[in-house]
Amino acid sequence: MFKRLQDKWGVSTRQFWILFIVFGLTGTTTAALTRYITSWLGMDESTFWVWKVLLRVGMLVFGYQAILLTYGFLLGQWAFFWKYEKKLLNKLGVWSLESGVNDSTPNSKLQTPNSKLQTPNSQLTHIAIFASGAGSNAEKIIAHLKNHSSIKVSLIVCNKPGAGVLGIAAANQIPTLLIEKERFFRGDAYLPELRSREIGFVVLAGFLWKVPDALVAAYPNKIINIHPALLPKYGGKGMYGMHVHEAVIAAGEKESGITIHYVNEHFDEGAPIFQATCPIEPGDTPEKLAEKIHVLEHRHFPEVVERVVNRESSIVSREYKAQD
Ligand code: GAR
Repeated sequence: MFKRLQDKWGVSTRQFWILFIVFGLTGTTTAALTRYITSWLGMDESTFWVWKVLLRVGMLVFGYQAILLTYGFLLGQWAFFWKYEKKLLNKLGVWSLESGVNDSTPNSKLQTPNSKLQTPNSQLTHIAIFASGAGSNAEKIIAHLKNHSSIKVSLIVCNKPGAGVLGIAAANQIPTLLIEKERFFRGDAYLPELRSREIGFVVLAGFLWKVPDALVAAYPNKIINIHPALLPKYGGKGMYGMHVHEAVIAAGEKESGITIHYVNEHFDEGAPIFQATCPIEPGDTPEKLAEKIHVLEHRHFPEVVERVVNRESSIVSREYKAQD
């Protein structure tokens, strides 16, 4: 249950427990303060019940929220709780999320000024697709999310000049960012560029470099990867593209598949989100297997991306196997 909540909030385990403490302290303080005010106002059994109810509702609606923000601020969680409050106020119709556009944290969901499908209170999550190769998965994701009301592919990040994915980006008028090793691994991991484009979610679609810790830390539970095998088998350093299929065939496996998973500090070890399998027939070559895997990827990855970005709990952080 805790894990589900953590995934829904998109926070690290440490942050999750701090948030929990903030909620706990807020509840206790609000209850104590309500008791104190009740006695300070001299309210007792003889007081008209409406006044007591009004006081409690007032404390819950205003006091609780103010105390929540105060504890949140004191425990370094202002950004999380401010966003939480804004959402609440937005639901109550008191605050328009449009006025929160200048929130520039990487996790923020922002309004797009020019989205055609925009409704007055809609929020847009900008995603970046990292890819190193042909980009067939990127292309499917872009097509799937075209004109989506709340998700936009806003950036293609690539480490290989001339890679096919750059042409796909150009054809779809999506800006690209060509990255180089030194700055990615030993510099700022291109975080300023991601932040300036308000990227809130990262999808690795055939990206073959390891993700630096700085990027993982900046996007907790907001980076997902697709791997062309059934992890935890055939994962790790050096296991990408055709190398994976060659190893699977050489081992005489009867089935292979795809794994979509969260990205953590270790290669291919983040929590699984989704798996789908395909049979390996006698005589299948690594190339034939690669084709089958691509079919699976194209069928499932775009929808899984959409569902994870939308934080649909039915899929987030739960291993799911689809037999194809
Ligand atoms: C995909 O099969 C993907 O699973 C794999 O690279 C291919 C990229 O194809 N990723 C890895 O091996 C990551 N370890 P694409 O460029 O046509 O989308």
